[in-house]
Amino acid sequence: MGAGPSGLLLAHLLQKAGIDSVVIDNKSREDIERTVKAGIVESPAAEVLVKSGVSDPINLEGMKHDGVEFHFDGRAHRFDFQDLVEKSVYVYPQHEVLKDLIAARVRDGVPPLFEHQADAVLDAETDQPRIVGTTSGGEPFEIVADVVVGADGSGSIARTTVCGSQRDGYFREYPFAWFGVLVEAPSTFDELVYSRSENGFVLISTRDKDVQRMYFQCDPLTDAATVSDEQIWDRLQSGVPSTELLRGPIFRKDVLRFRSFVAHELRKGRVFLMGDAAHTVPPTGAKGMNLAISDVLWLNQALRSFFATGSEELMIAYPENALKRIWKAQHFSFWMTSMMHIAPDATEFDNRRGLGELALLTESRYAQQYFAEAYTGWDYGVDDWN
Ligand code: PHB
Repeated sequence: MGAGPSGLLLAHLLQKAGIDSVVIDNKSREDIERTVKAGIVESPAAEVLVKSGVSDPINLEGMKHDGVEFHFDGRAHRFDFQDLVEKSVYVYPQHEVLKDLIAARVRDGVPPLFEHQADAVLDAETDQPRIVGTTSGGEPFEIVADVVVGADGSGSIARTTVCGSQRDGYFREYPFAWFGVLVEAPSTFDELVYSRSENGFVLISTRDKDVQRMYFQCDPLTDAATVSDEQIWDRLQSGVPSTELLRGPIFRKDVLRFRSFVAHELRKGRVFLMGDAAHTVPPTGAKGMNLAISDVLWLNQALRSFFATGSEELMIAYPENALKRIWKAQHFSFWMTSMMHIAPDATEFDNRRGLGELALLTESRYAQQYFAEAYTGWDYGVDDWN
């Protein structure tokens, strides 16, 4: 369930082991390919996408970033990933990853079934779980399978079956959100810039040489339509006062509300959760899709073992295996979010302590390596996934 990165990648890897699957999604292919999502692929995730035949290594090379900058307290600090941990990240926007994954399914003759709305997952604790739903044309459908995987995003239908309710999980809200824009302009910086200043967080990211993605911290209740272009540029520019941002038409504005969430259960019988259906992280650090790929590798290993030997051992171990990285990524995303933002009720002590933390991070090589290792991605630790 769900033609997002995790559902499509799992289907692709299973196919390579001769295991058939059907991927369904309630949206249309155009909607999925158009949805704007975060844009950083960690180095182990890039390796999976290339080695599994989804992505072209030559394209990826053009998206490689060997460092990022942090701006705070009037200073700029560069983290040189190659020097610190001999790794890189790729600015490979999620909708491009999705296009590659959908193309791979189409090439293999098993395109996803778009515009199929799942209404419920039934019979989880039997060996024939099933999905019942309706197509966009109003036709009811039913899919009976050996295994159902809920990769159906943060509003997951499968989560109700696995956890008993859609909201059943460990949960944290934040008192701020991101105001995101897409701008038609060349990039101002060669690398991503994360900034913390009196007004809070600013991120200057990119999509390609003509389109830039930028964010600033805002109130979660902000209505994107009410913020003028001038106000947007003021806020963005205040995060990087020493460099004039290259401007151009803003052609998309959105408010990204964020939260941290981990479902209480990731499996019930033959029904599994992965990706955003299992957990959400705030976007700072762009861990969402990278973390989803970890779930995919663990579940792929478990299902391959089950279909080859009939043993359920690795299927039962899936939650425990996947949760180790899920909680590490939860911590990293929470930490980076807290460090870079200014909470509305922050005291002067909080602000000064926050600057102390950034000084500590940028002055110690050990601390820089800690950050660089997490940002570029810990090894997945799953053998035999390909
Ligand atoms: C993005 O380009 O959308 C992006 C980049 C880095 C982040 C989050 C989002 O940490």
